[in-house]
Amino acid sequence: MKLITALKGTHDILPEEVYKWQYIEEKIKNITERYRYSEIRIPAFEYTELFARGVGDTTDVVQKEMYTFDDKGGRSLTLRPEGTAGVVRSFLEHGMFSDALPKKLYYMITCYRNEKPQAGRYREFRQFGVEVFGAEDPSLDAEIISMAASLLSELGLKNLVVNINSIGCPKCRKAYNDKLREYLRPHYDELCDTCKSRFEKNPLRILDCKSEICRKIGENAPVLLDNICEECSEHFEKLKKELEIFGINYVINTSIVRGLDYYTKTVFEITSDSLGAQSTVCGGGRYDGLVEELGGSPTPGIGFAMGLERLLMCMEAENVYMGEPSKADIYVAALGENASDFVSGFVKKLRDEGISAERDYMSRSLKAQMKYANKIGARYSVVIGDNEIETGKASLKNMETGESEELTFDEMKDKLKNR
Ligand code: HAM
Repeated sequence: MKLITALKGTHDILPEEVYKWQYIEEKIKNITERYRYSEIRIPAFEYTELFARGVGDTTDVVQKEMYTFDDKGGRSLTLRPEGTAGVVRSFLEHGMFSDALPKKLYYMITCYRNEKPQAGRYREFRQFGVEVFGAEDPSLDAEIISMAASLLSELGLKNLVVNINSIGCPKCRKAYNDKLREYLRPHYDELCDTCKSRFEKNPLRILDCKSEICRKIGENAPVLLDNICEECSEHFEKLKKELEIFGINYVINTSIVRGLDYYTKTVFEITSDSLGAQSTVCGGGRYDGLVEELGGSPTPGIGFAMGLERLLMCMEAENVYMGEPSKADIYVAALGENASDFVSGFVKKLRDEGISAERDYMSRSLKAQMKYANKIGARYSVVIGDNEIETGKASLKNMETGESEELTFDEMKDKLKNR
């Protein structure tokens, strides 16, 4: 019969490599603890309308990339393409606006986007993200960028560039959009069909189009950063000053517009030279209008998300040490029928004491059991037969050095416990 494989753009994280993910997850937990973020866990699917309104119905994500389906009740549902919209929904639904503000949340989630798979681009991928609600001061923008950069550097990455930009607020964007339309108008016929449909409603999206022709046209477009209002400009100046206080090297990259509609003022992306075409490890920014857009009272917000597959790719490319797969402290081999019962009890006792212990479940010969102990890389082994049970002592073998010592079962337990 034909084997069923995983879908294109999805991948298994196998037992041999899961330790790398656990290493990254531990570092994330550690930094979120220090920066005082609480974890939130949100559903993998939501009403489609949440993303259409939140992410924006002229974005590539909503127009082309969402996994949308009708459930049996005829409701249109969508697998989350990102975390921000769901977190804002939850923030409002659970009245978190009444909690002590700012509310600082983080999440580690799977996301789903129907994009063309390539290196660093998946259809199911993982993100670590943070969102902060209730504060508009640029010092928070700087702190968030600095936290993302610190995490990446604590994970051992070196070849990183922090790109920042400001895309203004709806007020300054309106005037800019008019200017942009004027620039784009002579090229209208050359634009892709999607961008033609964006021309009136949201021309900024054209600057983020993946089509080569649209990108080329966008290269000489008026620069948004040169056209932001005074308030947004002051915010950006303060952000730069704060980043200097944090000691973060950055470059101003006026071509960053981000692919999602909710951003206002600060946007940023952290890129790595160690990655190929998909070089953005982390992207984020401020979204002061999103909470209101989704039905709440005006509440500023800001956040970022890192793609964990890309992060891991970077770490592998830079040969970062991520620990090793976990190994058993001891393999307990049984010799004979009686011994098997004794081993069951002894192994249980070891495990209850916090020692990681492995045993035979397949009635293997002693030779085969020892071969298995070697294969799984157990640190110690012991062989228990009638004689050992009678004397209450057995020989504990260090599998690395080959040295053995005669110990009672309690001594053995204590020795392994104190390692
Ligand atoms: P985003 O830029 O769409 O932003 O995604 C964030 C990161 O997720 C990217 O920089 C990339 O590392 C990773 N990523 C995106 N798409 C894929 C893919 N198809 N395969 C692998 N990795 C991918 C957001 O999602 C916003 N919600 C970030 C944010 C949070 N802004 C404010 N708060």
